[in-house]
Amino acid sequence: MSDAATGRLILGIETSCDETAAAVVEDGRQLRSNVVASQFHLHAQYGGIVPEVASRHHLEVVLQVIDAAIAEAGVAWRDLAAVAVTAGPGLAGALLVGVNTAKALAYAHDLPLLAVNHLEAHLYANWIEPERPSGGESRGYRVPELPAVGLIVSGGHTDLVLMRDHGNCRRLGRTRDDAAGEAFDKVGRLLGLGFPGGPAIERAARAAPRTRTKFPRAWLKDSDDFSFSGLKTSVLHVVRGETGAPPPIPEIAAAFQSSVVDVLSTKAAQAALRERARSVLLSGGVAANGALRAAVIERSPAPVFVPPPVLCTDNGAMIAACAHYRFDALRARLDLDPQPGMKFC
Ligand code: KG4
Ligand code: ZN
Repeated sequence: MSDAATGRLILGIETSCDETAAAVVEDGRQLRSNVVASQFHLHAQYGGIVPEVASRHHLEVVLQVIDAAIAEAGVAWRDLAAVAVTAGPGLAGALLVGVNTAKALAYAHDLPLLAVNHLEAHLYANWIEPERPSGGESRGYRVPELPAVGLIVSGGHTDLVLMRDHGNCRRLGRTRDDAAGEAFDKVGRLLGLGFPGGPAIERAARAAPRTRTKFPRAWLKDSDDFSFSGLKTSVLHVVRGETGAPPPIPEIAAAFQSSVVDVLSTKAAQAALRERARSVLLSGGVAANGALRAAVIERSPAPVFVPPPVLCTDNGAMIAACAHYRFDALRARLDLDPQPGMKFC
């Protein structure tokens, strides 16, 4: 490289689940490259993620993905300020591939190694500047103001958190059983829509704008917690015809989606009001859902931030962005081990 002066460039590596991803982000905000090798086609035949298959595939492609991220960013290793990697939570074997690769690269290129929490990183997808139209001006981009209420909704997690400052978060609520994305995936399977269920259910639901079917909502009184397993059971009863002739699949999909969206958006909005949040941050794979985005925007008392769909699902850019804002606190040694059960606030 390097043409014009640049800010701090961080390489982010993510292998906690079924995407092998790497990205280069400048100053935690400018996306210089973002490469994601999805494995979903490998897992679709099993109807879910097979950890062993995931680790082996990460191992096969991780170096190519990283090389592509460096090349696409137009940078050289000596331009980088650090290598950041997801240390947890996630699948043990999958994390191991990313962590060991990051350690080797940090050592070989004499760069600091930063250990990032995957859930905290999901929130930072909201700090990344949306891509400008080619050659165009930035579209009035602002970073979120704190304190913020964050809703992290993915295949493995459903967490409502209060982010008071960088590195200062408190969990308000979480799912007591299935994660929101897991519920989408299980119901997608029940409806014969394939894996992953989220995008398939969203597509199916578009064909049924109004539904007579209504599923229960688990409000759990005043708690900020969530529960989706009862809803999944209700869907099962309806699909099996235990409540009468089953309605068409799009109608069931729409009614299921509307129950999940209603609870998630209402609780996020209530928490934002109560905590006097200055922003609401959506993130995680389920935040790619258009109905959820629309409902949160409609109900939230504060400005809502939602990353573009490619930054909602797992990616390396959010890892690099988080590492930029938490640089000193996340410095790790070269004997870093993956932490499959790593906690976040
Ligand atoms: O964040 P993510 O890529 O991986 C995890 O860390 O889990 O999230 C994947 C989850 C899957 O459960 C998938 O069904 C769900 O996100 N998802 C969606 C949509 N796109 C992906 N759920 C609802 N609507 C979508 N459009
Ligand atoms: Zn994730």
